[in-house]
Amino acid sequence: MNDASRAAHIIDGKAFAARLRARVGEAVSAITTAHGVVPGLAVVLVGENPASQVYVRNKARQTREAGMQSFEHRLPDSASEDELLALVRRLNADAAVHGILVQLPLPAQIREAAVIDAIDPAKDVDGFHVSNAGLLATGRDALVPCTPLGCLMLLEDRLGDLSGLRALVLGRSNIVGKPMAQLLIRSSCTVTVAHSRTRDLPGECRRAEILIAAVGRPRMVQGEWVGDGATVIDVGINRVDAGNGKSRLVGDVDFDAAIGHAAGITPVPGGVGPMTIACLLHNTVLATCRQHGLPLPARL
Ligand SMILES: NC(=O)c1ccc[n+]([C@@H]2O[C@H](COP(=O)([O-])OP(=O)(O)OC[C@H]3O[C@@H](n4cnc5c(N)ncnc54)[C@H](OP(=O)(O)O)[C@@H]3O)[C@@H](O)[C@H]2O)c1
Repeated sequence: MNDASRAAHIIDGKAFAARLRARVGEAVSAITTAHGVVPGLAVVLVGENPASQVYVRNKARQTREAGMQSFEHRLPDSASEDELLALVRRLNADAAVHGILVQLPLPAQIREAAVIDAIDPAKDVDGFHVSNAGLLATGRDALVPCTPLGCLMLLEDRLGDLSGLRALVLGRSNIVGKPMAQLLIRSSCTVTVAHSRTRDLPGECRRAEILIAAVGRPRMVQGEWVGDGATVIDVGINRVDAGNGKSRLVGDVDFDAAIGHAAGITPVPGGVGPMTIACLLHNTVLATCRQHGLPLPARL
């Protein structure tokens, strides 16, 4: 495969995310000018997890770049569940905060479910609250988890109407696999959800016209598992040894082998990853509009 043909197969999530962030910035500016409302996103980090610190810093920077207010709250690793719940309740009551994100994972003494349950569903820009999961599953207006929302946007940008396409979602987590499957059902795909108990995984994958990999296993999906002409969205972010004492990120799909079969494929990094924060900003604008009863900006 030559360079031009290879480039044509790559779905550039980084470029799409930059365009989405620009549209979010325009929407923020329009809302602020017309209604005097500045969307605000509060991000809560508990502890010192280095990866989480990087995510939180990037989220805060991109929030400010989009013209929104960014509120950062840090609690020590030793914080109790009660302390975190009290902070969430304060943010729920704060009119300047339209979106709340509590960075996961949390220290062992804090139950994630208790914290997610405490977030006002109207401000739940991660879309993890059972109310939002239920609204999505019943086809009503929900705040949708950012990573699967980003995958759907990339698919629609690449393929247009998805109706009737055979989709396989590999992984059934609450934050990626399940909401991804719901979004694809809503888009009228024929959806299969595969997981660690699935029989004949290569065969299931090969039948799919859309293949979403969200397993967290480096390069598990092999080239010959990908049907010819399929569109592959690789959600996986896995750090592997690159030799020389260095490490690098790879996806759940063997990219170099799969690109020979797929019509389109997201790279790692530069595919789904950048879409997640862009969709978080998008969700914060949606949440702001709904909380203030404002019309949704046209091109969001
Ligand atoms: N791009 C982003 O911004 C972003 C956001 C979130 C996650 N991620 C990445 O996406 C990946 C998945 O994340 P997650 O949170 O959904 O992971 P998770 O909660 O660990 O779920 C993994 C899923 O994969 C399935 N699985 C594991 N091993 C398997 C195997 N050998 N065969 C078939 N299925 C298998 C599991 O099946 P069972 O249910 O049967 O155990 C489970 O449903 C990770 O690499 C994560 O880092 C990326």
